[in-house]
Amino acid sequence: MGLKETLKALEFIGITEIYLNRKMSEGEETSERKLKQEDRNKLLKELYKQWRECTRCDLHKSRTQVVPGDGNPYSPLVFVGEAPGEEEDKQGRPFVGRAGQLLNKLIEEILGLYRDRVYITNVCKCRPPGNRKPTPIEMRYCSPYLKKEIEIIQPKVICCLGATAGEGILGKSLKITKVRGQVFPYPFNPRIKVFLTYHPAYVLRNPKEENTLRKDFEKLKELIAQQ
Ligand code: URA
Repeated sequence: MGLKETLKALEFIGITEIYLNRKMSEGEETSERKLKQEDRNKLLKELYKQWRECTRCDLHKSRTQVVPGDGNPYSPLVFVGEAPGEEEDKQGRPFVGRAGQLLNKLIEEILGLYRDRVYITNVCKCRPPGNRKPTPIEMRYCSPYLKKEIEIIQPKVICCLGATAGEGILGKSLKITKVRGQVFPYPFNPRIKVFLTYHPAYVLRNPKEENTLRKDFEKLKELIAQQ
């Protein structure tokens, strides 16, 4: 995405000011290179260790466990959902319930991949009671975890499943019906493309939308194939 396109896309979602990073110092460049070469599994494990006892927000009172991201940390594609549901809270893995089964099916049928070839995570790592949407405060407290995961994985494309995931990644509230199927730059690293589509749970509740989700996955496949 060129600079002009990047600015236009950001303006579309209401971001009208950006701050450019100063040039990286030699030390910072070296540490970025080191991060690339480090074992990403090890870094993700260390990250989880720092967060598994997290009590920053009230979700810790009702959760069974913190549910970290799961899959291949070298994948060019990261899926981001909202927060763990009942099954995810029990098993400690994201998207293992009914919505996860639909996600797996689309990953296999359209992207031609097995689920373990991509990385899957959530904006919030703890289950909100009754599967309600996480509050802005819960999302904010959990955001450094997601940001660090993306920093470690450095994917080519982040696919946000639903509006909450889009908000968590782009830092702006959005109407998913308006922005789905579109590409935006990731605010912390504009080289990473952010693609938005429906949450599979929404499609389970509204089966007529499965076709739209399938079309978005076709577009996602093209996006991953692009340089
Ligand atoms: N819905 C989500 O957003 N995330 C999960 O992990 C499961 C269901």
